[in-house]
Amino acid sequence: MMIDFEFTEEQKMIRQAARDFAQAELFPDVIERDEKQIFPSAQIKKMGELGLLGMMVSPEYGGSGLDTVSYVLAMEEISKIDASCAVIMSVNNSLVCWGLEQFGTEEQKQKYLSRLASGEIIGAFALSEPEAGSDATHQNTTAVDMGDYYLLNGTKNWITNGGSASVYLVIAQTYPEKGHKGINVLIVEKGMPGFEIGPKENKLGIRSSDTHSLMFTDVKVPKENRIGEDGFGFKFAMKTLSGGRIGIASQALGIASGAYEMALKYAQERKAFGTEIINHQAIAFKLADMATDIEAARLLCLKAAWDKDNHLNCDTSGAMAKLFASKVAMKTTVEAVQIHGGYGYVKEFHVERLMRDAKITQIYEGTSEVQKIVISRSLVK
Ligand code: CAA
Repeated sequence: MMIDFEFTEEQKMIRQAARDFAQAELFPDVIERDEKQIFPSAQIKKMGELGLLGMMVSPEYGGSGLDTVSYVLAMEEISKIDASCAVIMSVNNSLVCWGLEQFGTEEQKQKYLSRLASGEIIGAFALSEPEAGSDATHQNTTAVDMGDYYLLNGTKNWITNGGSASVYLVIAQTYPEKGHKGINVLIVEKGMPGFEIGPKENKLGIRSSDTHSLMFTDVKVPKENRIGEDGFGFKFAMKTLSGGRIGIASQALGIASGAYEMALKYAQERKAFGTEIINHQAIAFKLADMATDIEAARLLCLKAAWDKDNHLNCDTSGAMAKLFASKVAMKTTVEAVQIHGGYGYVKEFHVERLMRDAKITQIYEGTSEVQKIVISRSLVK
């Protein structure tokens, strides 16, 4: 098969539109939103209008009908400027809309997907628990089958969009004796009696996205809100996360390339020892390494997206992209701060924020260690 590294005109247009939007709408108040942990409601609304919240959803359900490659390009551009907006976008696209479109019933799609894909409402994906993060098969949240409904009890932790979402995909154990084959995924609406949202987490990075714990006490969830067959919940989570990791890999890529672009610009303006600092090899070589790492991360993200678009298995390629891009995000943002010297350590120059934001990409949607589990298992045929 021919290898074609050229983007289509449509993909280039999407990238440019996301870049222009991020510069015009996200950049101006990004520091204040980060500092005061302000949820970007107005910005997310505009992202919905631009079609960034349901990028891969069919237009039939209010989405943009684009491919995963376009999604990677847009995620990189949004993440360069505001990684908080990027994670809100990624969860809504990859974990909520994609899962609903692939596995939901027609009624569920009509009721929820169109509003989620258009950004009228946003969604959350509730898998992690106080004692089940990486070990996702051990769900303590229970969904007891009561005939017409499930009785949902338990606590979820670290849920992105936890306070701002209207719809939650909640993973819970129905048949403990069946292990991961006894897990279900239920659509839970904000406001259902017995559903409470905990306080907002005060985080190191992605501070304007809202992360909460969720508490369920005897919440009655109608049977028709279960996605897929009885016991499909764990597979649903794994399949959804497999694509989600491409989104987070692209977020990491964007954080890295945003920091790199700022460092490159700064290095051409700042003078020390009688010349612009880019003329010192100590700085130029750092930039050369950063640019090379970023290009490699970008290729891995695009390859995983290409796999997904061509209906090939993207479990390993997505995990590799996330593992590598998140490492590059950490390394590059630390170097960007170093190139900025003292200015890098203050908020006005943005790179300290990107350095804080980078760390989460090695933790959520599977830690780096989880990615290595996925990759290493795929090596043994
Ligand atoms: N697609 C389909 N099925 C899959 C699958 C996939 N990608 N991965 C695993 N499965 C299936 C397996 O085939 C197996 O099924 P059978 O028993 O029928 O053969 C079943 O699932 C169990 O698989 P494993 O034995 O591999 O399960 P494990 O307990 O060893 O766990 C793991 C594997 C990769 C560590 C998994 O638990 C995992 O991914 N953990 C991390 C969870 C995670 O990413 N959490 C993030 C929370 S969401 C989030 O962060 C969102 C946010 O806020 C941004």
